[in-house]
Amino acid sequence: MGVYHLKFGAAIIIMVLLYGTTMVRSIPNTNVTTVLCNSGKYTAGDPFATSLAYVLEELLTTTPKHKTYESYNISPYPNAFAYGHGSCNRNLTSSDCAACLGAAKTAMLDSCQSRIGARAVLHDCAIRYEQYPFTD
Ligand SMILES: *[C@@H]1O[C@H](CO)[C@@H](O)[C@H](O)[C@H]1NC(C)=O
Ligand SMILES: *[C@@H]1O[C@H](CO)[C@@H](O)[C@H](O)[C@H]1NC(C)=O
Repeated sequence: MGVYHLKFGAAIIIMVLLYGTTMVRSIPNTNVTTVLCNSGKYTAGDPFATSLAYVLEELLTTTPKHKTYESYNISPYPNAFAYGHGSCNRNLTSSDCAACLGAAKTAMLDSCQSRIGARAVLHDCAIRYEQYPFTD
């Protein structure tokens, strides 16, 4: 009887462990769906570069903290505004959202160098920036 209870208990523990790991292990799908670049370029030394770097950095840290995994941002420097938007699928963990946005940023900036606007849509997240306010 003692042995039986031990086995039963062990089976339950194993089930809980398996369930727990499958729940936690949701690897974000960072496959790129689309990357779109504005054809317009900013020149080297344009203050927009600083604004853009600020906005993208903010999006990467704030989006995973928002309950909706959705955030808009505006750069604080008055001489060249950058507007950004980041979002993640809600079934991601916060750290997976951050990882996905990092991959989205890399995919976007690799394809769209020195552009005045760009976006990358990945399977599980998306990122976009422009020189004007937008919603989407
Ligand atoms: C999240 O849900 C979407 C469908 O809404 C699905 O395509 C995607 O693969 C899911 N991602 C994860 C990490 O489960
Ligand atoms: C990502 O894309 C590759 C190549 O198209 C595909 O083999 C892979 O299954 C995709 N990954 C996911 C998680 O959908």
